[in-house]
Amino acid sequence: MRFDIFTTLPAMFQGPLSESIIKRAVARGLLQIEVHDIRAWTTDKHRTTDAPPFGGGAGMVMKPEPIFMAVEAVLGLEPGVPSPTPVILLGPGGERFTQALAERLALQPRLALICGHYEGVDDRVRQHLATDEISIGDYVLSGGELPAMVVVDTVARLMPGVIKTQSREDESHTSGLLEYPQYTRPAVFRGMPVPEILLSGDHAAVDEWRQEQAIRRTATTRPEMLAAWRARQEAE
Ligand SMILES: C[S@@+](CC[C@H](N)C(=O)[O-])C[C@H]1O[C@@H](n2cnc3c(N)ncnc32)[C@H](O)[C@@H]1O
Repeated sequence: MRFDIFTTLPAMFQGPLSESIIKRAVARGLLQIEVHDIRAWTTDKHRTTDAPPFGGGAGMVMKPEPIFMAVEAVLGLEPGVPSPTPVILLGPGGERFTQALAERLALQPRLALICGHYEGVDDRVRQHLATDEISIGDYVLSGGELPAMVVVDTVARLMPGVIKTQSREDESHTSGLLEYPQYTRPAVFRGMPVPEILLSGDHAAVDEWRQEQAIRRTATTRPEMLAAWRARQEAE
């Protein structure tokens, strides 16, 4: 899968996307991540990417021209022709990013992500260039770079071969329940023992305990998730 990220702050991506699982997936050719500096498509000597809002008001708005030109050039789009590749604008007013949405995006061979800044992006980008707008939650960040990294990381780990399938199946938000508590060595730390059942070697009993724990944890912190999970179980 290929990600094309459009940003005015390309250096922000250097650390997070060149470590750990993502780094290994890129090295193994499972992922390709290209970060494009929107400023490369500006035409003035100051490489301007923002301007004051029409109608007045605080702050600056990202100009449409360099964003349109960058995305069209990299994706090979004709101006005005809809993109076959999803072009995702990161924005707090977009569709809420969830595991289910990540799973849908993971079916695509390529995704483009546009990072906004300042007061946001000229709305013609959302209306006429982006195919989707995604919010990572009901709060406002200063830029779309961290949200883009959240989307890349979440979608990338769903790609075949990036992590073990079993690791994903039990995870919070995949099965519809939060994950059961996990423990590792030592079996006793500062007088705190791990639950005995996990040391029993009885796999069926461990599975049953984990399911109970997942239900209990979900009931405590996310009761609405448990209700939806129960409704699905009854429907199946
Ligand atoms: C300060 S925000 C602009 C907020 C905008 N004035 C508003 O009220 O909707 C600047 C940029 O950060 C990104 N951003 C901020 N919060 C976000 C969120 N929750 N999800 C995705 N992107 C977000 C977007 O790219 C946005 O254009």
